[in-house]
Amino acid sequence: MYPRPIKICASLTCADFLHLERDIQALEAAGVDYMHIDVMDGTFVPNYCLSPATMRTARRATDLPMDVHLMIEKPERYLETFIEAGADVLVVHQEATTHLQRTLAKIRDLGCRAGVALNPATSLHTLDYVLEDIDLLLIMTVNPGFTGQQLVPSMLRKISDARAMFASRGLSVDIMVDGNVSFQNAPKMALAGANWLVGGTSSVFMRGLTIAEGTAKLRRIATAAQGTTA
Ligand code: DX5
Ligand code: ZN
Repeated sequence: MYPRPIKICASLTCADFLHLERDIQALEAAGVDYMHIDVMDGTFVPNYCLSPATMRTARRATDLPMDVHLMIEKPERYLETFIEAGADVLVVHQEATTHLQRTLAKIRDLGCRAGVALNPATSLHTLDYVLEDIDLLLIMTVNPGFTGQQLVPSMLRKISDARAMFASRGLSVDIMVDGNVSFQNAPKMALAGANWLVGGTSSVFMRGLTIAEGTAKLRRIATAAQGTTA
């Protein structure tokens, strides 16, 4: 069941929007697996970010799949909107939706893969009764809202606890990490059991590297770290 294949999800927020088409083509050439779309509503997190309009624009430049990270209150109001805009995986925050199981089931009913995200302070135990309803667990490794933050160190333990939790239930679920997935942190995250890595300013879009260099390095070191789990 583990290790599961490494997937690189490039955080489109970190692209150069003056040259979006160029950056998207570079992501495609670099072989990233997903474009990670951060959506923020200024309420659930103290910032604003991408939107369905951004997704439609990006889709004109590429067929790369999109995983959509909804950092918005009551995401159940907008599931159809984001799926129609092209989401292949739709991730809602546990903290943002009162009827989490209903929201996750609806995402699947709409033909999309369902993910759930946890803020650093939210326990894995809050998902105990919805584990069968999720295709992906997103462990926020920083408090969501901003790029360029530092890893919350206890999140490494949360990743290994999540892996153990899924294994004990006989479930095969992808674990995504988002926030400061740097060249220093990614090997520890992969070793702990994360396999979907959000590449932002700490890797894929790191200053001083090309997108191709950042992506290749992230994939190489994470895959190597996974090998040490065998
Ligand atoms: C989450 C952030 C991340 C960010 C991660 O709130 O928006 O998706 O792009 O990139 P880093 O931490 O590397 O800047
Ligand atoms: Zn994100």
